Amino acid sequence: MKALILAGGKGTRLRPITFTRAKQLVPVANKPILFYAIEAIRDAGITDIGVIVGDTAEEVREALGDGSHWGASITYIPQEAPLGLAHAVKIAEDFMAGEPFVMYLGDNLIADGITRFVDEFREGGCEAQILLAHVPNASQFGVAELADDGSIKRLIEKPANPPSDLALVGVYLFSNSVFEAVNAIEPSARGELEITDAIQWLVDQNRVVRPHVISGWWKDTGKLEDMLEANRIMLDLISSEVLGEKDENSEIHGRVRIGEGTRLVNSILRGPAIIGENCEIVNAYIGPYSSVGDGCKILGSELEHSIMLGGSRIEDCGSRFTDSLFGVNAVVRKADRVPAAYHVMLGDNSEVEIV
Ligand code: G1P
Repeated sequence: MKALILAGGKGTRLRPITFTRAKQLVPVANKPILFYAIEAIRDAGITDIGVIVGDTAEEVREALGDGSHWGASITYIPQEAPLGLAHAVKIAEDFMAGEPFVMYLGDNLIADGITRFVDEFREGGCEAQILLAHVPNASQFGVAELADDGSIKRLIEKPANPPSDLALVGVYLFSNSVFEAVNAIEPSARGELEITDAIQWLVDQNRVVRPHVISGWWKDTGKLEDMLEANRIMLDLISSEVLGEKDENSEIHGRVRIGEGTRLVNSILRGPAIIGENCEIVNAYIGPYSSVGDGCKILGSELEHSIMLGGSRIEDCGSRFTDSLFGVNAVVRKADRVPAAYHVMLGDNSEVEIV
């Protein structure tokens, strides 16, 4: 069995962060989302992985390399434009060379991994298997309507009036017949070849498509609030490891990971939280559900339930930042001068809330 990871797309809902990086490489608990996908696939015993790449191909290649870091082999498959998930399947046909595969959307996170679903599919009995999850906002996803016997009646992509609250999770298991389907369908109203339509085609042809409603945590990490929730879920799973140093005036409570070369001076750190390498935490409070990347500084300031990417700094702000995301090398600092006015240089689509 092989795997296909989709790592193209533009990540418009996470701008400005995604102006400069692939959305799948934004970290959750200091690890790029895409790495969780690779780990889940490897843990399910699959090592031959195709990765669909678009505009951010170079950055994705740099992060994943040849896959040997995970004991896997990665083949990059460039998609010339974001023409839809079913289009991505289409261009992966040669790579699959007749083998069944798991398709994994690179911005999806499944806390419990996918081993169970892959094993179930390997046992046979169906041509495709989809995962479904109950969600409160079904109209933002592909939605499944099930018959009384639990079989799939209908699948619709982002319906205005969803017939159920069952969203299609971005992990699909396919046999070779999916290639017939992706070649038979037409582009949707948004001009894309939808994987949802391809699976509906299989259903219409009376092929066996097995639904599996999952009960564990799953997230499509498109927006800031999703990133913060994903960060929370993943930080709940970390174990403690303190490699950095703390002085006698600092306190550490709960589960925390602190990287090498990081110094805590006169500060309080309350887990679950993760601090990367070579950070300076001075006269600071870092509260639960914070992820701080390598080389960050938090001086005379407070942080909670937030994500700081590498090299970002909060200096002498006094007050607490919460529910926030700081991009690479972003700086917020208190200036000691008049006029006492806000002074900002914000990237396109940045958001600042002042109270
Ligand atoms: C895609 C699929 C949708 C699915 C979702 C899961 O949507 O088209 O059916 O529910 O992924 O993440 P997209 O995120 O591309 O809008």
